[in-house]
Amino acid sequence: MSAKGRMGNRAATESAGAVVTLRVFRFHPEAAASPRYQDYRVPAAPGMTVLDALLHVKEHLDATLAYRSSCRMGICGSCGMFINGFPRLACQTQVRTLGSLVQVEPLPNYPVLRDVVPDLEPMVAHHTAVRPFLIREEEGDRPTAEYLQTPDELAAYLQFAYCIKCGLCLAACPTVATDPDFVGPQALTQAYRYSADSRDGGFTARRPAVDNPHGLWRCHLAGACTEACPKGVDPALAIQRLKRLTVAAALGLGRQRPAPLAPPPVTAQRRPDIPAPPPPTVGAGPEHGGGQAVPR
Ligand code: SF4
Ligand code: FES
Repeated sequence: MSAKGRMGNRAATESAGAVVTLRVFRFHPEAAASPRYQDYRVPAAPGMTVLDALLHVKEHLDATLAYRSSCRMGICGSCGMFINGFPRLACQTQVRTLGSLVQVEPLPNYPVLRDVVPDLEPMVAHHTAVRPFLIREEEGDRPTAEYLQTPDELAAYLQFAYCIKCGLCLAACPTVATDPDFVGPQALTQAYRYSADSRDGGFTARRPAVDNPHGLWRCHLAGACTEACPKGVDPALAIQRLKRLTVAAALGLGRQRPAPLAPPPVTAQRRPDIPAPPPPTVGAGPEHGGGQAVPR
């Protein structure tokens, strides 16, 4: 038998024999006062993720199971769950790495909407409060030109821009567990991401949302957020840098002005050997002035 055939047989044997028990947290607040756990026997094919296993349950065993997912590729941040006692993305977690019993629960530190679906609204509210966008007094929210930025200035915040808002860091954070009003690692990281951006001038406007009794000083640098983050964002590092930025601002130090606007582009000259585009068809009818082609 060829090597390819032997490998095919081995894979077939492995996938035929492997079955795991999926123990899923079930909670339907309108139907029952307290939650329960329900076990499902699920075939665990090589490469199968916890999200695949939940899909299998939904399609073949129990259509009442509720969970949230979208992209299935670690990008949208929808499928955060507490899997075998650790916050993870279900679509990024291989069933076969977890043993024969896979326990799936909703993320801790959030209200539960139903089954393993958490209510991420507390994270979204804090995220919104830190004003996660470029703030510039001169142009307001209507920029008229590009902002200049060097590769080094980009590198200063790029890692923190990879956040997918999955909320795993809040589920892991011991401070969120004891202070629900704590701004939390996700929002603090985004406050730093924008404040460290050379194009931004908004730290003063952002500061009240992070420098308060439930803000960045509540972080005890446990580092659990960084351990849980599936995108390598390192929220713990961002929070320490945000503390440094806050102290510098209090001392009147730090960056005073955001990056300058780029000079307007040089006016392009049409090459004579390239024919002119056809006349526009939209807005050229009688109701707009008689169907005349706009001269170019
Ligand atoms: S910092 Fe990491 S764990 Fe926290 S929301 Fe962003 S991607 Fe998720
Ligand atoms: S389904 Fe999008 S991150 Fe898992």
